[in-house]
Amino acid sequence: MKTLRKLLLCVCFSILSDVYMAKAASTVIPDIQASSSPKVQEDAVRNLIRRLLPFHSESFKVKVDLDLGPKDQDTFELKSVNGSIQVSGSSGVAAAWGFHYYLKIYCGCHVSWSGVQLKLPKLLPQPETPVLVTSNDKFTYYMNVCTFSYSTVWWNWTRWEKELDWMALNRINLPLAFVGQEIVLKRVFLKLGFEEKSVDDYITGPAFLAWNRMGNIQQFGGPLPSSWHQQQLRLQHQILNRMREFGMFPVLPAFSGHVPSTIKELFPTATVSVLAAWSHFGPPYSGTTFLEPSDPLFRKIGAMFLQEVIMEIVL
Ligand SMILES: *[C@@H]1O[C@H](CO)[C@@H](O)[C@H](O)[C@H]1NC(C)=O
Ligand SMILES: *[C@@H]1O[C@H](CO)[C@@H](O)[C@H](O)[C@H]1NC(C)=O
Repeated sequence: MKTLRKLLLCVCFSILSDVYMAKAASTVIPDIQASSSPKVQEDAVRNLIRRLLPFHSESFKVKVDLDLGPKDQDTFELKSVNGSIQVSGSSGVAAAWGFHYYLKIYCGCHVSWSGVQLKLPKLLPQPETPVLVTSNDKFTYYMNVCTFSYSTVWWNWTRWEKELDWMALNRINLPLAFVGQEIVLKRVFLKLGFEEKSVDDYITGPAFLAWNRMGNIQQFGGPLPSSWHQQQLRLQHQILNRMREFGMFPVLPAFSGHVPSTIKELFPTATVSVLAAWSHFGPPYSGTTFLEPSDPLFRKIGAMFLQEVIMEIVL
């Protein structure tokens, strides 16, 4: 039940605007804890350092101490201990953030989407005095519905692993985790008695999933083969595992109200709205069907979807 409550709280945020996200999240989720132990988070950061600096990783000591700084903020500390650089963090993400600070400020390095400059001095500089930095807020949110189409739709695990490292280095701890939700939604509609074809016709091809998820369009570029669903689900599990190892709080999808257009055949009394055409997409691709949030069926499908997400992804 506690897990469900956390999940419900989390999913609400996907509809808020990014700007207010961090503040809103801090007030609405007052006491959420990372699911992995300090030891797991330390290992995740050690592995990140190994991936980034395979020849220098032995020069760093990583420590995760949940009580390092004020509650509900992230803190890192950098100091020189016996010739090693010790990076401590109040979470895995905080420690990775401290490591990034060291790379930027002490070594003049740069890690970004468009290029990586990791020319380290021969002798790694030691922080002369300890450096302690605390974040302003508990959460840093990342990504929106569209980026999962514009930017990441064709990414495999190798690319995602890089992105997750980049997120940790930049102290992102509230990332949207939207991969692979179609198979979960499909299971719910099949359980409700929809024909497989009408569900397949409701989901778009990969490059259009953002607009499908927002309910702008359906079917275009689809149907998705089951190999796609399986592969996306595997990827989502890998992504979520790594997010949690770093001590992040993944934001999972919820039900939006967008339903297959055959819904009235199955539920004749359902209250639905059929939207006007969207952009240059004509029928049958736009004119999507939305279930009214006040219809009890909305709650039912919403709850079934969350249950399915929890069973598949959280447990
Ligand atoms: C530093 O190294 C010395 C000698 O190897 C050891 O006795 C000491 O415990 C080390 N200190 C820390 C903080 O690790
Ligand atoms: C991901 O794709 C890249 C580029 O095609 C390839 O080099 C890499 O091996 C792939 N990774 C996995 C895990 O399949």
